[in-house]
Amino acid sequence: MKGKIYGLGVGPGDPELLTLRAYRILTEVDLVCVPKSKAEKESLALSIAAKAVNKELETMELVFPMTHDKQILKEHWDLATEKIAEKAREGKNIAFITIGDPMFYSTYAYVLERVKRQYPDVEIETIPGITAFTACASVINEPLTEGDETLAVIPAAYGIGPIREALEKNDNVVLMKVNSLFDEVVELIKELDLLGKAVYISRAGYPDQFYTTDLESLVGIDKNYMSLMIIRKAGWKSL
Ligand SMILES: C[S@@+](CC[C@H](N)C(=O)[O-])C[C@H]1O[C@@H](n2cnc3c(N)ncnc32)[C@H](O)[C@@H]1O
Repeated sequence: MKGKIYGLGVGPGDPELLTLRAYRILTEVDLVCVPKSKAEKESLALSIAAKAVNKELETMELVFPMTHDKQILKEHWDLATEKIAEKAREGKNIAFITIGDPMFYSTYAYVLERVKRQYPDVEIETIPGITAFTACASVINEPLTEGDETLAVIPAAYGIGPIREALEKNDNVVLMKVNSLFDEVVELIKELDLLGKAVYISRAGYPDQFYTTDLESLVGIDKNYMSLMIIRKAGWKSL
């Protein structure tokens, strides 16, 4: 009997934000695949999963380096897919865990595509998770969108141009991965007269969760990768 692969979202950080289905599958699978950017780094997804199920999990670590080099990425995605699919063919049920939701800026998408194309005999199912940006709106107790408002979600790691365009064309904007371009983003926000209408949130759902609308106080300081910004042009209701 072949095993099955699950792409499983563990939510943004708080173990209580796993879905009931994700919880059940984590307790049932034989193996948990843990994507990491560096072999020596601790996996946040695994620490969330382990806290949620409160049991020792059998794991297989997979390294996906943080690079924009397409060839390096492709080699790692191919290798990871081969390892996972082989385990499934051996009969193991496997959960490939991701922070937040597996279909939203996640390495799982590259594995999913390859499994479907190269291993059509292996069954793969996706278990959604709560995404970080909706969890962050809950942290600050402010709606992301209302009525006819538009929302753009931008990966803020590819230059300031797309961020400017999104801010000019939309009512509300979420900037994922805002850590690396933070200082330039603050300059842009000042130029567009949006200071006070933007909030920076880091590590939502972790014990050291933090947020502020005082963006200028953070300029020049190293930011956590697990952080994002929400800009609401109409302003906040109570922040
Ligand atoms: C590779 S993306 C993963 C997105 C994830 N799949 C999701 O559904 O939210 C990583 C980015 O998600 C955001 N992120 C993830 N967890 C977060 C958290 N607990 N607090 C704030 N931002 C978070 C940050 O912008 C980070 O750079």
